[in-house]
Formats: sequence, structure tokens, C-alpha cells
Amino acid sequence: MCGIIGYIGNKKAAPILLKGLKHLEYRGYDSVGIATLSKKHIFVKKDVGKVGEVSSKLNFLDLKGNTGISHNRWATHGGVTQKNAHPHTDCSGSIVVVHNGIIENYRELKEWLIKKGHKFKSETDTEVVPHLVEEEMKNEKKFAEAAKIALKKLEGSYALLLMYKDDNIIIATRKGSPLVLGVSDHGYFAASDIPAFIEYTKKVVYLSDYDFVTLTPNNFKVFNLLEWKPVRRKIDTISWDAEQAKKGEFEHFMMKEIAEQVDTIQKAVQQDRKIIDDIVKEIKKAKGIFLIGCGSSYHACLAASYIFSKIAKFHVNVILASEFPNYEHFLTNDTLVIAVSQSGETYDVLEAVRAAKKRGSKVISIVNVMGSSLTRESDTFLMMHAGPEICVLSTKTYTSQIALLSLLAYALAENYEEGKKKLNYLWNIIYQLTSRTIREKIKELAEKLKDKEHVFCIGRGLQYATALEAALKIKEVSYIHAEAFAGGELKHGTIALIENGTPCLVFVSEDNKKEILSNAIEIKSRGGYIIGISSKENEIFDSWVKVPESNTENAIVQIIPIQILAYQLAVLRGCDIDHPRNLAKSVTVP
Ligand code: F6R
Repeated sequence: MCGIIGYIGNKKAAPILLKGLKHLEYRGYDSVGIATLSKKHIFVKKDVGKVGEVSSKLNFLDLKGNTGISHNRWATHGGVTQKNAHPHTDCSGSIVVVHNGIIENYRELKEWLIKKGHKFKSETDTEVVPHLVEEEMKNEKKFAEAAKIALKKLEGSYALLLMYKDDNIIIATRKGSPLVLGVSDHGYFAASDIPAFIEYTKKVVYLSDYDFVTLTPNNFKVFNLLEWKPVRRKIDTISWDAEQAKKGEFEHFMMKEIAEQVDTIQKAVQQDRKIIDDIVKEIKKAKGIFLIGCGSSYHACLAASYIFSKIAKFHVNVILASEFPNYEHFLTNDTLVIAVSQSGETYDVLEAVRAAKKRGSKVISIVNVMGSSLTRESDTFLMMHAGPEICVLSTKTYTSQIALLSLLAYALAENYEEGKKKLNYLWNIIYQLTSRTIREKIKELAEKLKDKEHVFCIGRGLQYATALEAALKIKEVSYIHAEAFAGGELKHGTIALIENGTPCLVFVSEDNKKEILSNAIEIKSRGGYIIGISSKENEIFDSWVKVPESNTENAIVQIIPIQILAYQLAVLRGCDIDHPRNLAKSVTVP
């Protein structure tokens, strides 16, 4: 995944793009580049590194002009090198392009273009785009006309911004990758995500696949690329503001977003009752329900399977979206797929949803990003309303997903109001758990664990899902190897790795404490260091994180101290917290 942003208007483009790139850094951060247009000249600066580093080295702010496009890269095709960084140009440097997505047929196109005499400078799939437009312009075509013909040749996914030295316009188009317009009183924006321009405007236009937009300093026009006719897109006003996309009093977005869970659970359960009731009818009617997601969203689905079973006595299948093709043949028009995704842009989730739709199954999704592909491709969607999640790790959206899925389970059990009350009331517990005092206490625990090579996490039932999520949080931000097991499983092999002092997080709930504590004893007797996450202290715990017993809501409250632990470990180990290595916020590639 990468982040793109373009600006055209009456202000200098480079400072606006630079700020935008910083806000989009969560989407990719191995290289960065900006191209601007001034007096029929295209200027390009790009290099390997993060926005701040590259900007200090190359001085992006020097770039002249009120029109520009820019890019944060998360490498897919070609290594992390200056040449592979975007923007990419045609042979003459007159046409310039930034891209998020994957051009699947780039090899054929590149071979064809090379035969026509085009010289390529990078190993990227993207570079075919400016050369294709250049090739079309040889036939006396104007820039926009040539771009239209060239873009139709592309297979795969893209959000693209294009500029040409002799025309003061930006062409913006998307297919399968996110792109949204911003409309301000001094110009127009096109970007992968709203935080890129939220400082300047709350007015946005969500684009659909095959929208082809021409942006000038004074207006924008949208066409359908395939049918080549104008389409109307309405201007929406978003409900959150620039403050929510800033760190505020916190040093990192991760901690800010963990603390926001005091509010986000309440926001998640603030849903239109009629829509919930309609979804419940679909759930009851369906012959076979699949909950699908990736990463943390998959863990939320897994937690929900226990919650549905416990609260509503209802069985759901939980499948990793990337494994869904193995189950597709079970789908019929009576099947219901519930797709869970923060970004609404995860490739594997979208592919699974498309496969389900092809077989006539109904798709309901749970999403945080309005206007994302998943909101368009589902029959119905529920918004998490968690506000922008900027840190690459999901924290607040993980618990929002569980809150929403729990609300559905309560509604299914005809206990909607009671359930909503319980979920709403969690703010009180979360407030305590995220307080400075608890954060400091967890920091003391992090001090003890910071030099460990391995951490194990165990839980039974619902707590197994929490253990998986806990391990993922620790791994991805602190780079300590963490592995999760269902309580009864560790002894079937992995217990061989337990040595003196090996830490093990043990998630305890009232309904399985006997069994899980006996698993903890097995680990302790091999020298393991036991960290209990529970409502009551126990003599076998070497450290104890107190979390009030909350029944099925344990899935929400027990993960919060571990999100903080992962954060503190990363701080102590000097990791790049909001941008862990090799990761990207949404994974738009297979
Ligand atoms: C982990 C994390 C990822 C995402 C996964 C799915 O902290 O953020 O594992 O949960 O990439 O992303 P979405 O929810 O956007 O589909």
C-alpha cells in the first residue's frame, strides 16, 4: 500500500503536499517524492527514507508551483531505491505519475513500450503509465484524451494522479484503490485518505471505481472512464476534524488511539436500530454465516464467534479472508458473509466479498472508513465511527469491531438494549485502564520484559482470541517474538521452549479460571514467568494486571492493558511506534 496526494489551486503546492505526506505516512514509508508543475516545467524530487528525512535532505519546500502530486511508498514491485520511488516520468520528463495499487499486466505493457523505443528507469509496475500516455500523445492526442486511452489498457488496481507539463490540470482516477477528493476555498485535493487534507477542508467527494477526474484550479469534472460520460458525485461534509488527526498531548498516535477507546466503544454502538434489526433478520434467515477478516480484524471475528455462541447460542464460521477461496464452493444465495475491516480496502477481504457476491451471497460489512471499497461493495455496512486510526497498528478499531459484533449478538438474543447498556458502560473501566497510573504500572512490567526474546500468550475460549491479538500487538510494534495458544495447546509441543524466566501472559475469565490457571501452573513449573490478566490476584502470578471481570466484554477490556504493554515495550526498545518496519496500514495487495 502507498499514499498519494495531489493539490491544484492558488497556494504553493509543495508545503501542502509535504504536510499531506506526513499525514499519510501510515500508508507507506520506505520512500517519498513530490512533483510540481510551474511555468510548463515539471520538477521532481524523490528518495528513499521517511518524509521528514527526505524533505530535510532534498528540501521539498524549494519546489515551485501551485500544482503538484506526491507519494509515500510501500514497495511492491522493485526494491527500495531512489529510482523506484515515485513520482515516475515518461522518457522526456513531461508526464509525471504517482500510483497506489498494482498494475498486473505491466510486463506485457513494458515489453510493448520498450519495442516502441521507450526507455525505463525503474523496476516498478507504475512506470508503464507515463510511457503509455506519452505513446498515445504521439498520435496528436491531448493529455486528458491520451490518458483516457492509456488507462483503459491497465489491468489490476490503481489510484493514480497524473500531470503534464503543458496543461495546468491533475488527472485523478481509481480502480480498486482508495481515492477521495477534497474541495477547499483555495483549491482541490485528491488523496488516498482524508487526513492528507483535513487541515484545509472537511468537504470531500468519494470517488467510485473508473471515475476519471480532471482537476483544475477552479473546478473538477468527473467522467466514467469506460463509458466516457460525465458522472455526478456529491460533495459530503465529514464529521471529524483536523484535531482528531493530530497527536494532541500524546507522543504517538498509538497511545492516543488506545486512550480514545473511552469514547470509541460508545460511538460504535450508536447505531440505527432499524439497520441492526434488518441485519439480525438476515442472520436468522441465512443458511451458513461466514465472518471474515485479516490480522486484528480476523481476531475480532474469532472473538465474535465465541460471543455469538455465548450470548445468542448461534454458530458462525470464522475464516481468514485470505483462506476464503478454499471455502467459496459452500456459498449459495442463502449464505451471509460478514466482512470486518478497519480500512475497507484490504485486498483479501475485498476479493472474498467479490467471490461471495458472484455466488449470490449477501454481504454485510463492518468498516471504519466511509467511502472505502468495502462500503460500496457490500449490501449493507455498519460504520465503527472510531475516527481516523493513524497508527499502523489497530487498537481502537479492534475493540470497536468487537463492540459492534457484540451488539449484533445481543440483538440476535433479543437483548439489544441491555447489551448496548453494558457496552456503553465499559467507558468507566476503560477510563481506569488507560489512566496515567495504570500506564506507569504497565511500564514497570515492560521494563521487566523489554529484553526478552519470546513472550507466550494463552487464553481459553474468548480469551484465546485475546491471546492472539495480544501476541500480534507485541510482535508488530516491539519486534519481540510473541506467540499465542489456546490454553490447552501449549503443552502439545511448544512448552519445550519454556525456560527459566520465559514470560507468559495468561488471560483469565471467571468461567474458565480453573482450567487456564492449571495451564499456567504447567508453565510455571517449567520456570515460566506468569503475568496474569484477571480480576483477582493468584499466588501463581509473578506479575498481575488487574482488569475487572466483564464476561463477554472481557474481549474488549482485557486487550487494552496489553495494547499499552506493547506500546511501552516499543518505547523502551526504541522502536518506531506509529510506523513499524515492513508494515502498512492497509494491505491492498494479494
Ligand atoms: C494489526 C493490524 C492488521 C490489520 C489487518 C487488516 O495491528 O492493523 O493486522 O488488522 O491488516 O486490516 P483491515 O482491518 O483494514 O482490513
